[in-house]
Amino acid sequence: MDAIIVALSGFWLMLPAFVPNSAAVLFGGGKPIDLNRSWRGKRILGDGKTWTGLIGGISAGIAVGVIQMMLGASMGDKNGLWGFGSLPTAFGIVIALAVGSLLGDLTGAFIKRRLGLQRGAKAPVLDQYNFIAGALIAVILFFPSWFMSSFVDGASLLGLLTVLIVTPILHRSVNIYGHRLGLKKEPW
Ligand code: CTP
Ligand code: MG
Repeated sequence: MDAIIVALSGFWLMLPAFVPNSAAVLFGGGKPIDLNRSWRGKRILGDGKTWTGLIGGISAGIAVGVIQMMLGASMGDKNGLWGFGSLPTAFGIVIALAVGSLLGDLTGAFIKRRLGLQRGAKAPVLDQYNFIAGALIAVILFFPSWFMSSFVDGASLLGLLTVLIVTPILHRSVNIYGHRLGLKKEPW
């Protein structure tokens, strides 16, 4: 029972990083971030990375994190705010997770273009982990003690392992669903 709670809490803490990736699909469609520019004959990022997707996705991730903190506060967890810690640090952590997530996604696209892969082409591992890696690097850099106590120390490591195992499955399921709904071009 305890193990399930730890596993779920890892997932809960990463929600502000998961949400931007899906939300970007809903907000996309505007101007590409690289403004159609190329570098060494290949697009810098490609048409799949837009300003509206980036800003909409980050905002959605932050909004979800704020709702999570408000739920924590409404349950009387003022100092722990249900895992993100007390304000204002908790807010910083949520921002780092959401921004880091989509910076990881942009880095993934940059790498794909350098490898000569077209927008939307499959890139195993990179496609599934770019955003989680970006979010984790952001909190490791800016909130290392929160990262250690929430994802490394003692039993919390199980939460991190759960996130790493569940992410590709969740990523694939959400994309298949988004594809069926006509929101996403490819089912991956
Ligand atoms: N999207 C966006 N802006 C972002 C990220 C995503 O507009 N910063 C939208 C785009 O419409 C994109 C869709 O979300 O096509 C799916 O995102 P993703 O699978 O990450 O992009 P791909 O189209 O697969 O492009 P790439 O090959 O560069 O990963
Ligand atoms: Mg893709």
